[in-house]
Amino acid sequence: MTTRILFVCLGNICRSPAAEGVFRGLAPEIQTDSAGTGNWHVGEAPYAPMQRAAKVRGLDISDLRARQFHVCDFAEFDLIVAMDDTNISDIERLRPAGSDTAVKRLTDFAPKARMDHVPDPYYTRDFDGVLDLIEEAARGLHAAL
Ligand code: 4NP
Repeated sequence: MTTRILFVCLGNICRSPAAEGVFRGLAPEIQTDSAGTGNWHVGEAPYAPMQRAAKVRGLDISDLRARQFHVCDFAEFDLIVAMDDTNISDIERLRPAGSDTAVKRLTDFAPKARMDHVPDPYYTRDFDGVLDLIEEAARGLHAAL
């Protein structure tokens, strides 16, 4: 049974906290967290423009704090959901021998969007577009559990 889901991106201040915020609203019974493969923003709240775009949709993600993905996460979560293929290779590089924890792309759960990754709004500045994609994929993920 999937009861613990970790969302992972690069910085853990835009895409993965947004995904965590959207998903916990849909499935409060599931334990969620998010992490970044990088460590630049550890301890920070989500990026202010991402927080504002989420707030407009009624999502408050101001309580979240960035942390770095850790090898222990393979044991502590049933499913790891990444935003792009670079995240996946960075995660897989740390996989302990014998761990069979599933690592999937969030966009796998939004087939109609025809996207193979969640674009990084830290660079594209399209916070709303990314929230649309995340909301669709989060609904797909919830339905797939
Ligand atoms: P995220 O976006 O991976 O969606 O949190 C990023 C935010 C900051 C940086 C990279 C990605 N950065 O390099 O500072």
